[in-house]
Amino acid sequence: ATAARPRITVIGTGYLGATHAAAMADLGFEVLGLDVVPEKVEMLARGEVPMYEPGLAKLLRQHVEGIEGASGRLRFTTSYEEVAEFGDVHFVCVNTPQKHGEYAADMSYVDTAFETLAPLLTRPALVVGKSTVPVGSADRLAALLAGLAPVGEDAELAWNPEFLREGFAVQDTLHPDRIVAGVRSERAERLLREVYAGPLAEGSPFVVTDFPTAELVKTAANSFLATKISFINAMAEVCEAADGDVVKLAEAIGHDDRIGRKFLRAGIGFGGGCLPKDLRAFMARAGELGADQALTFLREIDSINMRRRSHMVELTRDAVGGGLLGKRVAVLGASFKPDSDDVRDSPALNVAGQLHLQGAQVTVYDPKGMANARALFPTLGYAPSALEAVRAADVVLHLTEWREFRELDPEVLGEAVAQRHILDGRNTLDPALWRKAGWRFRALGRPTA
Ligand code: UGA
Repeated sequence: ATAARPRITVIGTGYLGATHAAAMADLGFEVLGLDVVPEKVEMLARGEVPMYEPGLAKLLRQHVEGIEGASGRLRFTTSYEEVAEFGDVHFVCVNTPQKHGEYAADMSYVDTAFETLAPLLTRPALVVGKSTVPVGSADRLAALLAGLAPVGEDAELAWNPEFLREGFAVQDTLHPDRIVAGVRSERAERLLREVYAGPLAEGSPFVVTDFPTAELVKTAANSFLATKISFINAMAEVCEAADGDVVKLAEAIGHDDRIGRKFLRAGIGFGGGCLPKDLRAFMARAGELGADQALTFLREIDSINMRRRSHMVELTRDAVGGGLLGKRVAVLGASFKPDSDDVRDSPALNVAGQLHLQGAQVTVYDPKGMANARALFPTLGYAPSALEAVRAADVVLHLTEWREFRELDPEVLGEAVAQRHILDGRNTLDPALWRKAGWRFRALGRPTA
């Protein structure tokens, strides 16, 4: 039965592509993954994952060809020729980072992928865009594809955005909340349904749309999530001014199903490779479309978010008596969120970097993000454990909510620091516990005592 199933390729093996490739192999498809970076391909071919993503290495090793006991359905290559030859359905999963010094998304990786693949398509194929792109890209890429492919219109495009979260990539890919299929033909819809048939689609609504809507679903979803976070962070600002407690407030409004409890954790705000840049790219694109007014509120969402970081710096300055010069600051957390080693646009590292620039002696510890943090901010201090990081600290900042930090013993840490003073930038530490151990404990948007 397997032989009759479409053969799948995945172009780009970042969080999205590597996970998608492994998931497709897990569903029983023959899969060929491509990356232009040979080192990445070599790692993946050994069943190693170039980033920290729970469960992904295990899933890969169950399928990568040549690994003992593996299904052998998953291989990797750097060759587009091989990809074009092999695949019936090609998933494009390359990234679209923010352009340097601009709000717009950098489409060069997507464009290059299409421009390289299309001229090699000599038999009918469905190319499925998964990257997050400015609305209108799919229309343009469909024309490019049909124009460059030797099979012409038989090289068809579908747009199928992805909603996985880092740290939950495997789970989200295997059990998506919904599958969105932007298609122009029944054939494309049928092929996509076939690819997603079985356990993955069970319980997942399949929403069929046109191209622009499919592209917009992704940016709208991320904008909504960012809006929720900035909303609760705005409430945190008000709570601080009024001596209220944003954690209680979030809990109470979250009991209303229409509002929901998720994504209402106030703190130093959102970061990472998606939310911040997607908001900005969305505003830039709306401007090009003459719809910029509709999204002016996103500018405010972005600035509330950036204000969280500077507010944290101010609180730190206050905590050490007004001047940061020479003060020892311990920073717990470097990755943009727990269960990830990703430090792209990390609020924690941004705060650490600002404090360093203002003369503080900053020492950072993160359970998984150290190597990436060092590469990005080589001038910061780093320690091999939370306990080492807080040694002789004048103040401790909790900036990424790893479980490990929630389980820290305030007594033990208290012995190591110069001052028992901690600022919780993520609202996941228990104030009573720390205060009982004699710490001055301050959390964003919560009463000071
Ligand atoms: C986000 C979306 O959640 C995914 O659905 C989407 O597929 C992905 O972007 C993408 O576009 O590829 P991700 O960037 O992995 O996923 O991270 P999130 O879990 O959304 O967290 C983003 C940031 O918001 C983190 O810095 C996190 O600490 C922060 N956050 C989240 C809060 O400050 N408060 C909350 O209540 C929730």
